[in-house]
Amino acid sequence: VKGSTRIPKSQIPIKIGHRGAAGYCPENTAASFKKAIELGVDYLEIDIQMTRDNKLVIIHDPTINRTTNGKGHVKDLTLKELQALDAGSWFHPKFSKEKILSFSGFLDEFAEKTGLLIELKKPSLYPGIEEKVANELLKRGLTKGDTDKIIVQSFDQNSLKRFHKLLPSVPIGVLVKKRGVKGLSNKELQSFSTYAAYVNPKITMINKRLIRRIHHHGFKTLVWTVRKKKDVHLLKRYNIDGIISDFPDIF
Ligand code: G3P
Ligand code: CA
Repeated sequence: VKGSTRIPKSQIPIKIGHRGAAGYCPENTAASFKKAIELGVDYLEIDIQMTRDNKLVIIHDPTINRTTNGKGHVKDLTLKELQALDAGSWFHPKFSKEKILSFSGFLDEFAEKTGLLIELKKPSLYPGIEEKVANELLKRGLTKGDTDKIIVQSFDQNSLKRFHKLLPSVPIGVLVKKRGVKGLSNKELQSFSTYAAYVNPKITMINKRLIRRIHHHGFKTLVWTVRKKKDVHLLKRYNIDGIISDFPDIF
């Protein structure tokens, strides 16, 4: 897998809208994804979890408490119950019509418009989620041709290994958030290389040496979550491959 992927866009670093354009709209909603596309992103970043009736939904937290007018765990509620909620007013009353999106509804509306950076969020809570996501992508023919159109990432390395076995043509990204260069050992980087093409670190752990080491091991790197223009300038100097931002107009 190492080094086998290519970033299809002419511009490096590629621009990735974090949960859409989460700085401007309620995260992971249609409004947020539309805004990010309007601002010219190459990819939308989304978080996927699973409902009580085994449907894939786009939401960041394992509970609905922060980003809707309801309470409870995503895994304890059905898709119908989740989609009855207001997923926008917490951000601003003008977004009161925003709903939690199903993964299939999201793909219907956005898959043809942009690349997708799909995060399997807390997959250990949702046994079988890798198969579900893989099947949805396969069914729609999204794994053919331009393979970098879809990238699947997670903090959960076991889940990523499972996904890679299911769909080896889809590039995998390992999310990391340890601090300092020593926080990511060569041994670890080598272990990622059996299944991943990207190593995606939190911005707080970035330095030039770390990026060089990641590249040296044959990975591409997408950095999150970038909110300031001055960080964009710095990251460009470090030759990173992509920037994940809440404000997709700071690129
Ligand atoms: O894309 C990386 C980033 O989204 C990971 O952190 O918490 O925002 O999902 P989080
Ligand atoms: Ca995420």
